[in-house]
Amino acid sequence: MKSTNIIYHHATVTRQRRNQLNKHKSVVLWFTGLSGSGKSTMSHALEERLFNKGCRTFVLDGDNVRHGLNSDLGFSDKDRKENIRRIGEVSKIMLEAGFIIMTAFISPFREDRIAVRNLIPNGDFIEIYCKASLETCEARDVKGLYKRARAGEIKNYTGISSPYEVPENADLIIDTEQETIEASVSIIISFLKKKTIIK
Ligand code: ADX
Repeated sequence: MKSTNIIYHHATVTRQRRNQLNKHKSVVLWFTGLSGSGKSTMSHALEERLFNKGCRTFVLDGDNVRHGLNSDLGFSDKDRKENIRRIGEVSKIMLEAGFIIMTAFISPFREDRIAVRNLIPNGDFIEIYCKASLETCEARDVKGLYKRARAGEIKNYTGISSPYEVPENADLIIDTEQETIEASVSIIISFLKKKTIIK
């Protein structure tokens, strides 16, 4: 921390009051998985369902955030770490603001995901692993980037020339090779109801 002599100012409109107004709890749903594993598709489909139920929602998506807030970051291990750290901090703010936040970042390093889990109040960080094999993601190759990575045009590509560390303690695992989007969304909705995050 570089800044000193800064004193935290407590809000009178608290997270608890926002949650009461919204009639649901706020939470961070942290999607992780290889590029092409379905993180963005799933987050947006889930957001659609939650929004239509009247929930306050927001999706933070890797490709979008890297155009703005994190446009100074690339794909070295160090930059990915900083990418995830910043998103963790943004998520924490949005959690206070009362939102159901869905984050769709590869977040390949276990240590970085654990750091975000530790940053977020107990139980409010839910790690959802979008499980799909590299073969499947590469065959999908929605953005054509795997092909370019294989050709050596993109360095440090996750799954090809940069590691992806599978979560050891994911709260939910969604097998996107087996489940349809709708079924996957329903699994997550049931989970949120069971945890009394939504009604
Ligand atoms: S993360 O590793 O720092 O979590 P993030 O989710 O923000 O990555 O961005 C991943 C997206 O950036 C991929 O879906 C892909 O479209 C694009 N991308 C560009 N270069 C790379 C790369 N070297 N490795 C992975 N994804 C890349």
